[in-house]
This record gives sequence, C-alpha cells and structure tokens, in this order.
Amino acid sequence: MCGITAHVAESDSLRSLLTCLQNLEYRGYDSAGLALLNGSEVRVTKSAGEVESLKQRVTNGDLEGEIGIGHTRWSTHGPPTDENAHPHTDCTGKIAIVHNGIIENHDQLRESLQARGHTFTSDTDTEVVPHMIEELLGQCESTAAAFRSAVDKLEGSYAVAMVVEGDHRVYASRSGSPLVLGLGEDSQYLASDVPAFLEFTNQVIYLQDGDVVVLSPDGYRITDLDGRPLERTVETMSWSPEDAQKRGHDHFMSKEIHEQPTAIRQAIEGRIDGDDVTLEEFPPGSFADVEAVQFVACGTSYHAGLYCEQLLGEWGVPVSTHFASEYAVSSPPVDGNTLVVGVTQSGETADTLEALRVASEQGARTLAVTNVVGSSAARKCDDALFIRAGPEIGVAATKTFSSQVTTLTLLGERLARDVTGSPTEGHESRLSALQSLPEQVESVLAASDAEQLAHRYRDSRSHFFIGRGPSFGVAREGALKFKEITYEHAEGFPAGELKHGPLALVTADTTVFAVCSGREESKLVSNVREVQTRDGPVVAVAPRSASSLLEVADDTLTVPATHPDLVPVLANVQLQLLSYHSAVALGRSVDKPRNLAKSVTVE
Ligand code: G6P
Repeated sequence: MCGITAHVAESDSLRSLLTCLQNLEYRGYDSAGLALLNGSEVRVTKSAGEVESLKQRVTNGDLEGEIGIGHTRWSTHGPPTDENAHPHTDCTGKIAIVHNGIIENHDQLRESLQARGHTFTSDTDTEVVPHMIEELLGQCESTAAAFRSAVDKLEGSYAVAMVVEGDHRVYASRSGSPLVLGLGEDSQYLASDVPAFLEFTNQVIYLQDGDVVVLSPDGYRITDLDGRPLERTVETMSWSPEDAQKRGHDHFMSKEIHEQPTAIRQAIEGRIDGDDVTLEEFPPGSFADVEAVQFVACGTSYHAGLYCEQLLGEWGVPVSTHFASEYAVSSPPVDGNTLVVGVTQSGETADTLEALRVASEQGARTLAVTNVVGSSAARKCDDALFIRAGPEIGVAATKTFSSQVTTLTLLGERLARDVTGSPTEGHESRLSALQSLPEQVESVLAASDAEQLAHRYRDSRSHFFIGRGPSFGVAREGALKFKEITYEHAEGFPAGELKHGPLALVTADTTVFAVCSGREESKLVSNVREVQTRDGPVVAVAPRSASSLLEVADDTLTVPATHPDLVPVLANVQLQLLSYHSAVALGRSVDKPRNLAKSVTVE
C-alpha cells in the first residue's frame, strides 16, 4: 500500500527523501513523487513508475530544499499516471499533500469544492485535501489549525503529510493508516514504516490515530485534533540498518529466505525451558478462561494460521482460521471466552485490523501475533506476542511465515496446557525439534535442488500444490508464493480434494508439488498416482523417510527428518526457493511483483 515520508533538516533533504522512498517501495511502486520547500517555494516532481525514474528526474542538481515530503504509490483511486502520482496540490500550487489510505467521503468533498470553484487535476481521493486546506487557511487562525480542521473532516483511513509555501514545517496526521516519527540528531523523519529511515535513526515514535504532528527545524510537537499537546514515548528500535539491506543478495527475498535460521532462533529465544514453554507475556494460566480460538489473517499469515490450526486442533483446542476480510463481513459467534488471534506480519493490514475490531466489539479477547512492535494490531489488541523476525522488505513474505509458525506453535502449547489442563502429547520431542529447526533450515538452504527443478518445470502451464493436515497450509502458501512472484498460474488444494474437481485440469503441462510431512504418506501416494495417470508430472516435497512417496514421484525436493509437525516448515523453504528461482528464470520483478504491495492498509 502507498508509502509516505517526510524529512525536515538543516541541510538538503532531497537525498534523504529519495532514500526513504526507495526503502518504502515495498509498499507500492506504481508511481512516486516528492515536494520540496525550496526557500519559500514548493516544488513538486512526480512520475509514473518506480522511485528510480523519479530519482533520474530530480538528481540533476536544480531541485533542493531542507524540508520535503514524498510518496510511493499503490493505486487505488485512478490508474498509475503522472497526474495521479502524489504529491497533490491545491489550485495555487502552494500546498502539497501526500496521503496513504482511502478517503471514503472524497466524492462529496470533491463535489462541494468543485461547486465553490476548485479545479481538480487528478482522479485521486487525495486531491480533496489540499483544496480543503486552501479554503481553511483563510478561515483558521493558523496553518496547524487549518490542517487539523481538514483532517477532522476526512472519513476513512489516512496518513497525510503536508508542506505549505513560505512555512518551514511539515504537518502530518494519521487515522487508520500507519505513521512513524523518526528522531535523528539534527533532522526528523516521518514515514509509513520504520525501515524507511532506519539507516538514519533508530529513535522512533509510533503516532496514534488522531495525532497531529508538526515538524520544524527546531523539533516536533504532537497534539490531538483540537490542538491539545500530547506526550508520546520515544522507542529505540532493536532492528539494525543492515537488517533492512540486501547484504550481498540479488534480492531481498533471497536474503530473507536465507535469514530463516536466525529468524526462527529469535522467535524461540528464551521461550523454551526444557520441556516447558515460557512465554514471558503469558505465564501458565493466562488462557485458563479460553474455550475457543479463532485465527484471523490475510495472505501468508492466513496460511500460518491454517498450519497451526491443525496443530491446535490435534491438541484439543477448539480452533478455526478465517480470512480476515470475510470475518469482518460475517463473523462467527464469539463471547468473552473466545480468543481471536490476529496473525499479521505488519500489524497494519486493514482487513485484519477490522476483523479484530469486530471481534473485540462482540466481546472476544484479542491477541496480535505480529512482527512490528508499535503496530496498530499490537496496540489495539488486548495482548501482543511478537514473532521477532526482523524487518521483511520483499513483498512476498518468507521468513515471517517460519517465524509465525514457530511462535504460534509455542503459543499453541501454552494455550493447550491452559485449555486442556495438561501438556500436549509428545511436547518434549516437538519442543526439542523446534530448537533444532534452525540448523535443519540451514541444511535445506545449503543443498536444495529447487533451482534445477525451477528450470526443468519453467514451461509448465499450471502449478498445483497439494498437502494434507499442516502440509495443506504449506501447499496453499507454496502456491501463493509461486503466483505472486512468477505470475504463472498456481493453486493450492487439500490433496484429497484434487479428485473432486481440479483433476479435470491436469495434463502433461500441469506440474503437481505434493507436500508431505511423513504422516499422511500412503494417501498422498494415491493422489500422486491419480495425477500421473493423467500424465501430470509430480514433484514430492518430503522428508527422506517418506520413501514410498519419493519413489513414485517424478522428481523430489527432500528435507531432513524432524518432528512431523515441523516438516512442513522445511518443505516450505524448498517451495520458497522454487518460487524464487522460477521468478528469476522468468525475469520477474522478484521483490516488487506487479500489482501487489507488502502492507495493504485498505479493505
Ligand atoms: C499482503 C502481502 C502478503 C501478506 C499479506 C498479509 O497481501 O502482499 O505478503 O501476507 O498482505 O500481511 P500481514 O502484514 O497482515 O501479514
């Protein structure tokens, strides 16, 4: 979803703004733009395409200024054209605005502004804001008051930032869309997310809904929408700037796939003591009142939920997994004994936040399982548990899936003990296997045949991914990863469902990836034969012990033996590598796949 940023400094802001924009590109890359206060004049440069093309336009030396705002866009209202790129300006060109989110009442606002003579130059919802401020400047006592008054009239979600000619300040506010303030030694930053400015500062303030911040060369001031001063805590980010760089990899996705051993170690650290789970946030008995668990999530996080639903169900915890977007439309019954777990890497996905809001409104207890401390989900839920994966930049989520499954497995153990009154069957071997998982991921990464297979099957017309139990979640995730970054047709099914429809599509051009944890091997072998009878090639993704499956398959991606509940995590690493190498072979934009964004902050 769009990324916004701002920079206020003593010296030129252009380079910092471009860096922040490039670091934010994972949020959207249809078009980009910036506005700089050059002396007293506002100068806007924007264009369709990635930040790189903006950079080429502005680095010829004739654009400079100490104060600026920037935007990288993922189109919602209006196609990705130069006109629709942000910043947007008022009729005079003296007020420039960048915005992330959706202004739901923009039609009414636009109509009344046009009726009063304002001329619009774009199709965006955003453009109403500078025109509103243009009017309000003449009616309010100060620019800050005019800004507050305008944002107070907006319905929907927004994070907005503004510069005005002759005024050496940036004005910004948020409601429903993320906005973080970064405090450097002699400059200040605003951005939709911390990695934007992490190489400049790790001192951050997570702004809250309804906060208005005014940045000037002398400092910052936060107020509410009525102008009353507010105190907000400055937090020190534990993420290092290098965490948000490629570190020698060609793509962030490759780097993040290879970071999984570390990510899993971080998720476990201090949370296992012998055969006990020791979650600092949730001592024994924390979930004694819980009678049912519901996971709500989107995309990859939904698949982590599907995976762990299988585990919790086996351990005697009544559990279900829901697409967050559907949950908000028709939610299942909840009461005070229902724990609704929002699984969300970013903690900012609008659908997931809305599902959590609905659940909370109906009396459920809410818990965010997220990667981002200070995110909306972490703040709005009753409790939060962090997956500790470090920043993830590639649009296609990789390491955070492994961290989510690891964290949810630990949470599941704690829940099962509280809900059923006893530890789960085989918990000793599962917890011990969890601690060995990082080395096993390392061995998959070191000896994978995924690149070879990516080339062998690159001309397939369809790619099916099948699995049973927890492997079904990974089959879905394998298909999602594949379609996201290769743009090729891919679907994930429960293996048993293949014969109830999808088999009609299987031909020699349909490669089927059969994911096996080792438990459900014989049934999977039958499914594989069903595919091969229709000439479809099958790649088994399985532990070496699954010999009958490996023998019958046309090709194999093997993983080391571990506890069957965790084998699918290793299988998923193989599928990530397969997708990655397939996308590279096809020349796709691996880190910034077309039409997608990492953090989707609109419903
Ligand atoms: C977008 C991203 C996916 C991600 C999903 C949920 O669709 O492209 O990679 O899995 O959002 O994001 P979340 O931050 O809530 O986990």
